[in-house]
Amino acid sequence: MIPGPVEISPTVLAATSVPPPGHTSTRLIEAFGGSIERMRQVWQADAASQPFLLAGSGTLAMEVAAANLVEPGDRALVINTGFFSERMAEILHRAGASVTELAPPLGEAPGTDQVREILRDGPFKALFATHVDTSTGVRIDPEPLCRLAREAGALAVFDGVCAAAGERFEMAAWGADLYFTGSQKALGLPPGLALMVAGERALAARAAGGPRRRRSTSTGTPGSPSIAPTRSASRPTSPPPPPRWSWPSKPGSARSWRRGSPPASPPMPGRRRP
Ligand SMILES: Cc1ncc(COP(=O)(O)O)c(C=O)c1O
Repeated sequence: MIPGPVEISPTVLAATSVPPPGHTSTRLIEAFGGSIERMRQVWQADAASQPFLLAGSGTLAMEVAAANLVEPGDRALVINTGFFSERMAEILHRAGASVTELAPPLGEAPGTDQVREILRDGPFKALFATHVDTSTGVRIDPEPLCRLAREAGALAVFDGVCAAAGERFEMAAWGADLYFTGSQKALGLPPGLALMVAGERALAARAAGGPRRRRSTSTGTPGSPSIAPTRSASRPTSPPPPPRWSWPSKPGSARSWRRGSPPASPPMPGRRRP
């Protein structure tokens, strides 16, 4: 059993084998509206949340999260539980964020005390975590992370590519701010869609963004969230590497797949990459 791409059900296969409706047809508009409403059900999100369906992959959803929620210079905390958390950290780093990674030993999720301790070192604009990291199989518990992020005044953003529709996620009840996935995993669709639901706080944070973000709305619907990843020409091309905390008891014993090497003598309770 693999996390995906998954087998497509005969109903979905049949739906893709008929001539597509016109992109402005009533049929398409109704189907799109129905999909958005169903996303709220799957995400267990409230009516104030905004679902987005974009043509692209899960990685596009990661880019969209970074481009819309983080300004250059903002601090972001990434719970690094594997390859895809690492990718999120990289994307945030390239978007100009000051990224701190909390990396428990390979195969483990961090304890809430560890997360709370790092958040105290804030303020952070957002906490990013991978609900299930496909590379390691590590599943984090989003509920306490949402609570801790909220207490620290940070947004709680989750990569649900390997989890959405397969693992329990209660966006409204837990107070998560953004949860995204790709169509090719537990939703049981062909690849090609990036799906995400943004909560009220994420939408407000995006609307309150800096000049870069306000400029980007000028090409879209006024006041609506920009969903296009942006790149600022003035951003440094090679910013310094993000700081990283990790919890392996033996320095250097974990994360051999990481870029760079860990420092020799870690300060407790973890180590911070210079
Ligand atoms: C947890 C996780 N995040 C992100 C991605 C990236 O998704 P995509 O390959 O659709 O870009 C994947 C892909 O397997 C994933 O498993």
